[in-house]
Amino acid sequence: MSIVYLNGQFLPKDEAKISPDDRGFLLADGVYEVTPFYEGAPFCLDRHLTRLEQGLSWMRIQQPVDGLEDVQRRLILENGLESAATSLTYIQITRGAAPRTHYFPVDPVEATVYAYAKAWDRPSPERWSKGFTVATVPDQRWSRVDVKTICLLPNVLAFQDAIEAGADDALLVRDGVAIEGAHMNFWGVFDGVLVTHPTTNQILPGITRGVVLDLAAADGIPVEQRPIQVEELGAAEELFFTGTTGEVRPCVGVDGTPVGDGRVGTITKRLSQLFRAEVEAAKEAAAGTPVA
Ligand SMILES: Cc1ncc(COP(=O)(O)O)c(C=O)c1O
Repeated sequence: MSIVYLNGQFLPKDEAKISPDDRGFLLADGVYEVTPFYEGAPFCLDRHLTRLEQGLSWMRIQQPVDGLEDVQRRLILENGLESAATSLTYIQITRGAAPRTHYFPVDPVEATVYAYAKAWDRPSPERWSKGFTVATVPDQRWSRVDVKTICLLPNVLAFQDAIEAGADDALLVRDGVAIEGAHMNFWGVFDGVLVTHPTTNQILPGITRGVVLDLAAADGIPVEQRPIQVEELGAAEELFFTGTTGEVRPCVGVDGTPVGDGRVGTITKRLSQLFRAEVEAAKEAAAGTPVA
């Protein structure tokens, strides 16, 4: 039985009770964050907490993120994940439980803060080297997907459509632009230039995306942040995705058509290596850091 965190308490998951009046349940009125841990060491914890804090502020949910670092570290320990190669914490904060209204509760209520930790698996090197495929699916999300809200229905439907089309993942398309994946940011290499959508209200500003941009700059890989048109995809030398549990994930086929020569490209491989090195550095830096 996993140990979870709910409103100030650590307790077995089956003892965690959330009101049916919770606005997360009734209205998707909340935000979430997923932070990766490698052998118990958090990766980019500050960036994840900052994004969470910004989301809460935008949604006008009065809930400080102070203390959530310790909560996450303790969840990793309580669940015996300190040696797991790859694990994560999930935090969800909703506006709280109150009689259902389409506006904020009239009488102030406490936010609901729920968190858990679990292991996740990287694809094997053989699986990664084969690359992954996507199906293009219309992007039916709202106009503030830069906020990491728990309202993920369009992402769920898109991902399901992609799976039913026989692909590994979805590529969301709006007005002829390949925006991002259902749970990852999207990248292409065109004439040796690395391209990804700029940070607007149309994409989630991925933490992994930010790390990869920094790595590319430091490695001298030319980068352009601009929308990628679907009609350009046939000319892409490489395509890949980035995300917390996807890391750097090669994409070798779109709607059944191979990308480039259909094999994982050199820039994708290079960025994946650099990303892994960054993870190793974070693990080393964390070694000896006292845990909660
Ligand atoms: C729609 C979407 N884009 C991109 C990402 C990648 O963000 P990150 O690198 O912070 O995991 C996510 C992660 O959940 C996502 O849901």
